[in-house]
Amino acid sequence: MPLLLLFILAVLVFFWAHKVELHQFQINRHDVTLRKKISRPLKILHLSDIHFALPNVMLSRFFNRLAAEEFDLAVLTGDIIDCEEGIHNAVENLRKIKTRYGFFAVFGNHDYYDYRLKDIFLHNFPGQSKPEALNPTDILQAALEGIGIRVLRNRTEEILAEGTPVLIHGLDDPTTGRASIRETLASYDPAKINLLLTHSIDAFLDISEHEIDLSFSGHSHGGQVRFPVIGPIFTHTTIGRAYVDGIVTLKGAVCSVSRGLGYGRNLAFRLLCPPEAVVLNVFGV
Ligand SMILES: [Fe+2]
Repeated sequence: MPLLLLFILAVLVFFWAHKVELHQFQINRHDVTLRKKISRPLKILHLSDIHFALPNVMLSRFFNRLAAEEFDLAVLTGDIIDCEEGIHNAVENLRKIKTRYGFFAVFGNHDYYDYRLKDIFLHNFPGQSKPEALNPTDILQAALEGIGIRVLRNRTEEILAEGTPVLIHGLDDPTTGRASIRETLASYDPAKINLLLTHSIDAFLDISEHEIDLSFSGHSHGGQVRFPVIGPIFTHTTIGRAYVDGIVTLKGAVCSVSRGLGYGRNLAFRLLCPPEAVVLNVFGV
């Protein structure tokens, strides 16, 4: 009898993780304070790890919810697509987001590589080689720029938010060896607000104390599967389990680490780790 109950429980948990929680999209809002002055609070939308693939009605409905709001800034921290078919779906959804000062993106490992089932085990962890199948990253970039999203690959753009100069430093994917942090921070200016977009928070290993005011990252998926008491098994960060998701502080920077909105198509489950979009209300001193 206990074995039968255990089996039923396992089936229910699998069903929940595979069919239900994947679509329990949340908008999680946080107030954060930087140690510099800003002329007025900024409302920033942080999206990550959407893994666009084939059309997804529930994800499209969630983007309609986001479309009802206006943001000062939107940022997208990589793993935008899972496969080439996702480019059209990405454009159709991301074009709904309205911003005053712009929408900026960096790429993640899945924007460069099309991970097949075997790649999850052979090419998914630090130190392993890269998958063979490529995603059409340049076509993705052109499609995003066609709808006004600025793709930052180891470069910086500056915006003026109500008179406050904000530098948006966009690091290319650190998880596949494409990041050049010194090239990216070449125009760093301590008198301005310095924002860093990076697919993985591990980029902070190469950043100095107080170099960055506010950063955005993803990649971890919050662990994607979490067990009661134990938490996540895989964190996909070497910095530490405390940095797997949420609002954290690192080297003087306020960091938003998103659980992301999607999943690799060969790992279609989430447990105790629902998909999220993050909205930050950013205050100055
Ligand atoms: Fe991802």
